[in-house]
This record gives sequence, C-alpha cells and structure tokens, in this order.
Amino acid sequence: MTLGRPRLHVRETASTNDRARELAAAGAPHGTLVTAAAQSAGRGRQGRTWSAPAGHALLMSLVLRDAHSLLPLTAAVAVAEAVGDDARIKWPNDVLVGGRKVAGILAEGRPQEGWAVLGIGVNVAVRVEDLPPELHASAGTLGRDPSEVEPFLTSLLGALERALSLPADQLLDAWRSRDALLGHPVSWTAGRGTTAGIDGEGRLVVELPDGGRTTLDAGEVHLEC
Ligand code: BTN
Repeated sequence: MTLGRPRLHVRETASTNDRARELAAAGAPHGTLVTAAAQSAGRGRQGRTWSAPAGHALLMSLVLRDAHSLLPLTAAVAVAEAVGDDARIKWPNDVLVGGRKVAGILAEGRPQEGWAVLGIGVNVAVRVEDLPPELHASAGTLGRDPSEVEPFLTSLLGALERALSLPADQLLDAWRSRDALLGHPVSWTAGRGTTAGIDGEGRLVVELPDGGRTTLDAGEVHLEC
C-alpha cells in the first residue's frame, strides 16, 4: 500500500488539510498522511467549518501527487465502500447513511505544483448530540466505538487505493450506484430542478421545469436540499 506512509499523527491541530498542504508544498511524497485526534479549525467545503469531538472521528488528509479532476468523487466512492452497503453519496461527495451525513471530503489542489490534498472527516464514533446544535438534524454517525477509528482508517486507505486505480467509467458507475439524489428535487442560487445523475465529468445533471437540462459544477454550486 502506498497511501498512509509517511504518517504524521498529532493530538490536535488547526486543520489536517493545512498541515498536509504545508508538507506537500515542502515536497512530501505521494501518500503522506496527516491524522489528528482533534482539530481546532477544521475546514469544510465552500468555506464551512467541520466539527468533531476529540478522539471520536477520523480526521485525515492525504498528499497525492497524481490526482485527477474526479478526485472528489473518487474519494466519495472509497469512503462509501469503507462505510458499507448502506452508504449513499450526495453529490458531489457527502457520504450519507439513512439520509444523514456521516463523512465529508475536502479536496484541495495546486496542480501547477503537482500536488493535491485530500481531506476526509468521518464520524466513526461521534455522538450526534455532541456536535453543534445546528448539525443535529443533518449529521449522522457510524455509531462505532472510538477504538474503531484506527481500523476504519486502515479499511479506508485500502478502499482509496482501489478507487484511485479504477478507470474513469468504472469509477463513475460506482458513484452512480450510490447516488442519493437521483430523481430528487434540488435548488441552488440560480435555479431548481430534478436531478438526473452525473455526466462523464462528474457534473450533476439537472432536468429543469421548462423541460431543458443543465449541468452543475461542484466548485460553483451549493445545493439547497
Ligand atoms: C465538507 O463536507 O464540507 C468537507 C469536510 C472535510 C472535513 C475534513 S476533516 C479532515 C480534513 N481537515 C480539514 O480541515 N477538513 C478535512
């Protein structure tokens, strides 16, 4: 396995993504892993924060040197596989169980410098009531024991190795087989419609009320659903 070595584990850091970005910029090799028991300023997508009680979640960031544009979806496929058969993916890469978000993924890259950082947070043993109140309605947990965080990491690294080696068409099919939004109504700042899966670039396809279709790019759109 090439992912997970070398590994830096810290009791607490601001954000494992920030630590991994520093290491990547300093030349850390492909597969370098940063994990933390706690983050004081965990970051989510689109400027949001990421909260997790110390020692109850997997908080990890990987340095990757051969990432491609489907990395966020690839990571979601791997996390879903590690979570189990009941895991679904809400476009682009939230992993849900029973409609509740159990994992989030933040992929950040500097393609011109030849690196990407893949940050993943998984609520392995989080109690939802220990999260900030605004998350109580939407957050989920795998409901495992805190001692399961490390074994979950091992499973996830294996799943990531497999997902990263899949050809794009197989990766997209694996993503589609777990699509949580297919046929669901969605809205975003500029419109609303019904989801119709993802295209070959991983964009969300939406059927519009007027009968037309549009595609949404994960970097630009925040779904309100
Ligand atoms: C999201 O769903 O908004 C993405 C959440 C990503 C959270 C993880 S936790 C480990 C890594 N470090 C961070 O600061 N963020 C990611």
